[in-house]
This record gives sequence, structure tokens and C-alpha cells, in this order.
Amino acid sequence: MSLLKIDVLTLFPEMVDGYFKASMLGRAVENGILEIALHNIRDWSTDKHRRTDDAPFGGGAGMVMKPEPVFAAINAVAKPDSTVIYLCPDGELLTQKMSSELAQSKHLVLLSGHYEGIDERIRQTLVTREVSIGDYVLTNGTIAAAVLVDAVARYVPGVLGEEKSLTQDSFTGNLLSFPQYTRPVEYLGMRVPDVLLSGNHAEIERWREEQRRERTRLRRPDLLKQFSQSQQQ
Ligand code: ADE
Repeated sequence: MSLLKIDVLTLFPEMVDGYFKASMLGRAVENGILEIALHNIRDWSTDKHRRTDDAPFGGGAGMVMKPEPVFAAINAVAKPDSTVIYLCPDGELLTQKMSSELAQSKHLVLLSGHYEGIDERIRQTLVTREVSIGDYVLTNGTIAAAVLVDAVARYVPGVLGEEKSLTQDSFTGNLLSFPQYTRPVEYLGMRVPDVLLSGNHAEIERWREEQRRERTRLRRPDLLKQFSQSQQQ
């Protein structure tokens, strides 16, 4: 059995099918560490035209996803202890911390909205968490679901080749990551910092930590505030 199963409910499974088959996610699925199933919500429409949307009550532009096919889809895949996440711009912001917490789950059901949104009664009853991937509006939540899967999967043991690579990621401990270099030592007149060639691991660690703080101070002072607070605790 896989460590984490994720069911994705969307009207456009083809948008992300290739994404889940490629690279690290594809390998994790092949190795049975992760199980990802894509479902088309339209398959649960009983309407003779297989409609999944309708005009909003009260008027206004755009269409709203009908409750019946979404209820049927969620009820078909969710179990009592599943976390059902609706991807939407007005959800809680996805963070590295949230990703690591969600990776502890056994089963996630991701519902991606389309059009102007989904009937509020779905959110009131079946959805247990609402998540946004950033303060901007996408045409639908399918890519957002793929982003969440990717960020969460990195915390499932065995998905990344080297477990260690998680601890120095950007956002771990509220700091950004440090600069990386590879061969050649000199390229277009730019040299790799001497400390990285020194072989002195303690020095290298110190330099990297300094670089993380400096980058965070320049680029994300908001994060540095959280970092300082966590150091004082
Ligand atoms: N659907 C549309 N925009 C979104 C966003 N920013 N995050 C998650 N789902 C979305």
C-alpha cells in the first residue's frame, strides 16, 4: 500500500496527467510510494447533456458548478477520514509548513473548481479544508491541485532521492535557500566562492547559513521576522 493516496477531481484531468507521470512524482507513483488518481467530475453527471454547471442564482456573469455531480464524485472517492480540499483563491494560503503537515495524511481528495466557483453547499458540507496557492486568480483549480500534490509529495518519505535535501529548502525554518554552484570553477570571468572549494565543511555550513539569512533579509523581510521569533522561543 502507498503511504499517501491522492484523488484529484477536476473537469480537465488531461491538464495535469502528464505532470503526474513525469520526473519524481512519476517515479514515486511507479514505486508505489504515492498513489495519484485523476477523475473527471463529468463522469458523475446524470444530466442528459452531461452538464456540470449552471447560471448563478441572483444573476451575474459566468457559471457555477452544480452540486449533484460534485457530491456524487466526492462521495464516490472519499472515506470518513479523508481530507477533502477545495482549491480556490479565497482559501488558506499554501505554505511549506502546510505541505509537510498534509504529507502526514493517508488520503487527500482535491477538488478543483472551474468557472465562477462551486455551489456553496458543497463547501459547507463535504469540504474539510480550502486552500489557495497564491493571491491571484487562475482559470480553474486544476493546476493549483497539481502544485499542492507536488509540494506535499516532497515530504512523503522516499519521494526525494535524498531525504536530507528537505532541511535546507527555502522556507524550511523560515529562511530562503543559499546560492548553489557547480563546475566549472570559473565561468565568463565569474568564480565560485573560495569557501565552497575549501573542503572545510564547518566553514561551508557557516557560509551557507549566512547566505540564507542575507537573502531572506533582502528578498523576504517578512519571513525573517518569523525566523527571529522562532529563534527566541
Ligand atoms: N483557483 C483559481 N485560482 C486559484 C488559486 N489562486 N489557488 C487555488 N485555486 C485556485
